Amino acid sequence: MSFTETAQDMRDEIVQLRHSLHTTPEIGLHLPRTQEKVLAALEGLPLEITTGSALSSVTAVLRGGRPGPAVLLRGDMDALPVAEKNDLPYVSQLPGQMHACGHDLHTAMLVGAAHLLSGRRDELAGDVIFMFQPGEEGHDGAKRMIEEGVLEAAGARPVAAYGMHVVSSVLPQGLFASRPGPLMAAADTFKVTVKGRGGHGSTPHLSLDPIQAACEMVTSLQTMVTRTFNVFDPVVVTVGRFQAGSADNVIPDEAHFEATLRTFSKENRALAKRRLVEVVEGIAAAYGLGVEPSFAMGYPVTVNDRTEAEFAGATADELFGPGRYAVSPNPIMGSEDFSYVLENVPGAFVFLGACPPDRDPVTAPYNHSPDALFDDAVLPDGAALYASLAASRLAQEATNG
Ligand code: NI
Repeated sequence: MSFTETAQDMRDEIVQLRHSLHTTPEIGLHLPRTQEKVLAALEGLPLEITTGSALSSVTAVLRGGRPGPAVLLRGDMDALPVAEKNDLPYVSQLPGQMHACGHDLHTAMLVGAAHLLSGRRDELAGDVIFMFQPGEEGHDGAKRMIEEGVLEAAGARPVAAYGMHVVSSVLPQGLFASRPGPLMAAADTFKVTVKGRGGHGSTPHLSLDPIQAACEMVTSLQTMVTRTFNVFDPVVVTVGRFQAGSADNVIPDEAHFEATLRTFSKENRALAKRRLVEVVEGIAAAYGLGVEPSFAMGYPVTVNDRTEAEFAGATADELFGPGRYAVSPNPIMGSEDFSYVLENVPGAFVFLGACPPDRDPVTAPYNHSPDALFDDAVLPDGAALYASLAASRLAQEATNG
């Protein structure tokens, strides 16, 4: 039987687990109930299981029946501080907390894959690392699991890593999508305080006006972007916050602004970080003002390895037939901490359309909405793709030897 058929046979168990996870959505790095449910669902499988110390992660290693390298499969497990508005029999039981990003599906699909691959253990030419990760939503969970050794869980580093993400709109149900190269943005925050010397608005020559200089900085940053970066490797700088002053005739001591910085390559991210500071320091110096620039760094760019992304597409085609995998025309501006894994191991991150059949994927509420809905129907195929990516990739290594 193929992975898809076996996964359909396991459908009820996978759906049941997903519903159970959905009722108790936990946020951040500590997900005790979620961890307990995952451990229970993996019980009896021939896995080497370890749990995290700084976070409630679960790392499970399946040793294949034949020697070979390792492949890593990742599913994130955390929820969001969103009050669920859906009317479901398995609606969130925790007020103000919801699996609004579909990570409950990822966890259930990865448990499904652990069952599928355990059933084929003898045929596996190498090991599979199952990475059940807390704290994707802004808590650096993947980075912490890497620090705790998830990449060395099977011994040597894995040769490939794959992650999946469901979306409640945009893609039609059942469609897998990804692309080679940059897939999701790095999203950082740039904060600036311009320090002048306040005074009377009628005599600006006797003050050091921070507002005038800060305005010049805001417009110069846009010019800097177009005059520094290739338009085919996009960079976005948007100043979304600007605060200064208290009255029309008073020059304040300080002005503050904050910008979001979106980049799609490591090189541009580093260069933007340097150029943003140079621009604001240069303008401040020209007017004899002080300036304090700082950054709050978010997740890095999520970059798919070209070969691995093509392999993921080919694997989906082979499993489900043509028409179930699409190459995304553009990267998307969201960010994702699987990027930390992909900085260390070549791999691919794949989206899966999970829009319910009675909703239009163009207008359906998107991930993170209080009324986002993810359809259970995609669970068996998601589990089958996870399992197939690992098994086929190991088989490929064995053949290429
Ligand atoms: Ni998410």
